[in-house]
Amino acid sequence: MTPKIKPTERFKNVKPSGIRRFFSLAQKTPESINLSVGEPDFTPPKHALKGGLQAAKEGKTHYAPTNGIQELREALAQKAYREYGLSYDPDSEILITVGGTEAVFLALFSLVNPGEEVLISDPGFVCYEPGVFLAGGVPVRFPLFEKNEFRPSVDDVMSLITEKSRVMILNFPNNPTGAVLSYDEMASLAKIAVERDMIVISDEVYEKIVYDGVKHYCLATFPGMRERTLVVNSFSKTYAMTGLRVGYVYGPKELISPLWLAHQYAVACVDTLAQRIALAALKGPQDFVENMVQEFDRRRRLVYKRLNEIEGFRCLLPKGAFYVFPSIKDFGMSSEHFVEFLAKEAKVITVPGSAFGNYGEGYIRISYAAAYKKLEEALNRIEKAVKKLH
Ligand SMILES: Cc1ncc(COP(=O)(O)O)c(C=O)c1O
Repeated sequence: MTPKIKPTERFKNVKPSGIRRFFSLAQKTPESINLSVGEPDFTPPKHALKGGLQAAKEGKTHYAPTNGIQELREALAQKAYREYGLSYDPDSEILITVGGTEAVFLALFSLVNPGEEVLISDPGFVCYEPGVFLAGGVPVRFPLFEKNEFRPSVDDVMSLITEKSRVMILNFPNNPTGAVLSYDEMASLAKIAVERDMIVISDEVYEKIVYDGVKHYCLATFPGMRERTLVVNSFSKTYAMTGLRVGYVYGPKELISPLWLAHQYAVACVDTLAQRIALAALKGPQDFVENMVQEFDRRRRLVYKRLNEIEGFRCLLPKGAFYVFPSIKDFGMSSEHFVEFLAKEAKVITVPGSAFGNYGEGYIRISYAAAYKKLEEALNRIEKAVKKLH
């Protein structure tokens, strides 16, 4: 007898990510240029890889402590203090996770009761909504509008808060829009969290990738926020280590403890060698990060300039991350059709804005974490292809 296989109700609203679909399309079309995926095309710094190699030679291939290797947690505690003046106890207030992704999931699982509402941005990173559904919560989306440079309006956020609102996820610098918030804007969101007694998951994985002298402010530094914020971060983007899967989360002990428990039973610990590589990355010279961001800046300017020169696109100059989120409304097509058109006619793979939420419709996301030459070629191809639409 064939077994009746049906996932639990929690999966009812969970669909495969719109990014992966287009990423697979890129893999099936070898001549295409893939600008769909959010990962730096750099190799991690040499000193980091050397650290991993050394650890392998020394046979450091056994389980690590559940919450992560001691030296890494200590180095991260120092980082938080050095960069933001935040004190976290490395033994109870820092957890090393399988990328920032696991940290977000653990946070949602430990904070959200069935039926409770979680505020997330629209457009927003693709993991949040499914994470909320799988945790049994209800996602409530606040809009990010182009006319406001994709920054949230305090009034919009306030108007969506109910007595069931428990958690808010903030992600600045933002994926997919590249928006970064000023001190005052972060402060106003922090004020809402304090006044409405909400916990915030602040996803700051792009903290180092900011341009034009713009500063990133860690949400936990605002008054009343350290005690109600889980700061999610990762080595993936900063050190081009996406495949090594090392992330981390800072928070007060009471918030971190349940994440630790869930992490223990779900994954036991993060890959020991990957943690060694992360540790070496953090301890060594940081010019790698500066150089990478400088190169991203060059690419950002190229993509911004070229797109705005092509009739039909309207593109803001993003202040952070490595994405542009241009409007394609003038082409009169849905973002999904437009992305399919670009894949077919230009052999360039991008992501429809609708993959990030309803308010993302009318936009596409282009990742410029690809080589300059590739970007030039992709833009030439896009320019040529869209001529057919006018
Ligand atoms: C906003 C945001 N958060 C979290 C992640 C997850 O990164 P990782 O799990 O590799 O640390 C990503 C990756 O694209 C992201 O864009």
